[in-house]
Amino acid sequence: MGADDKSSRRGRFRSVETKHLEERADFFDALKRLDRRSFLKVASAAFGSVAASGLVTPHSFQPVSIAHADSKSVQPFTFAYISDSHLYKRTVNDRFVNALLRAVDDVNALDPQPDFVFFGGDLAQLGQPEELELGAQILKNLKAPLRVMVGEHDWYYDMGEKWRALFGAPHYSFEHKGAHCVVLNSVVEKDFWTARNMTPMERMKTVAGLDNGVQNSFTVGAEQRAWLESDLKGKPANTPIIVFSHSPLYKLYKPWNFWTDDADEVQAILRRFQNVVVFHGHTHQVLTNRIGNIHFQGFLSTAWPWPYAPEGLPALTVQMGRPDPFNPNDGCGNGICSVHPDGLADIVQNLWNRNPITISRTYTASLGKKDKPEASTRRSF
Ligand SMILES: [Fe+2]
Ligand SMILES: [Fe+2]
Repeated sequence: MGADDKSSRRGRFRSVETKHLEERADFFDALKRLDRRSFLKVASAAFGSVAASGLVTPHSFQPVSIAHADSKSVQPFTFAYISDSHLYKRTVNDRFVNALLRAVDDVNALDPQPDFVFFGGDLAQLGQPEELELGAQILKNLKAPLRVMVGEHDWYYDMGEKWRALFGAPHYSFEHKGAHCVVLNSVVEKDFWTARNMTPMERMKTVAGLDNGVQNSFTVGAEQRAWLESDLKGKPANTPIIVFSHSPLYKLYKPWNFWTDDADEVQAILRRFQNVVVFHGHTHQVLTNRIGNIHFQGFLSTAWPWPYAPEGLPALTVQMGRPDPFNPNDGCGNGICSVHPDGLADIVQNLWNRNPITISRTYTASLGKKDKPEASTRRSF
């Protein structure tokens, strides 16, 4: 919308709805430009309503202290995470856009900056090219380098065509300061759509739904498992391994697809390493688990919190409390992970509107005997 359009609005009566729609048009107009200056302007407007509630803890999350490395191990480093933004097209929903902007601004305010920012998947809600482009445009404003993982909401409209064009391969590995990091596509489903003659949108909406009895469970799949084995081949057992997977790499609750069907096989490939940490998205909640040598931490969503599954909650999970249904940001957030010389990681879950929860590596390493995280003290609903 041009300056002339804006000035022509002045002095005439406008309904609340019209004002809202005009403000929203300005908001998305500014988003299109998104150089650093316009981003800050748009972002600060987006947080205004949250700050006015008095509940926001702006940029309150900071890395926990980092030990000094010895020469044989990981050089300590931090990465921030943002996950599960579930962006709709801009004409449908701007609340989730505001939330992702807030997360980007939170992370950009960290001092020192993390080594990289990891996005945990479900950037889009219905895999639409416009949703994915909008997300990529917003994430470009991060100061630190970005690494991205795919979620099922990004994939099943066009089977990853747009996502790959924007972000590249859905599974890859990289070395970072002595740690070997692996990113998996853990949302591979067996074909349930061809026999049913589904359109791309029907397929996408089925995968996006819970409890529908139509879709299959997520897997990493034989092809990626073979790739993982060859990727890790020859690495000494004391190499710290960090794995990113969208769904949890264990079996938590099948009806909601909080589940990876071939998790046992993937865990078997990781079993010979002394320390493995798996970070996952998808569950939209504070979730902590350990199975043998593998430590698991879930990421928060910026869009909405899921309730805890009715069964199978890992014993190490310190629950984040039931969010306030009248506060759309409650239970949402982002976080920062600090990787130590032993390859294990502390995670600070930056729950917006609540005190951050720090889950230290000593808590999972001691199987919950030491350093139990302090749960949120705010009211639970
Ligand atoms: Fe999600
Ligand atoms: Fe997901």
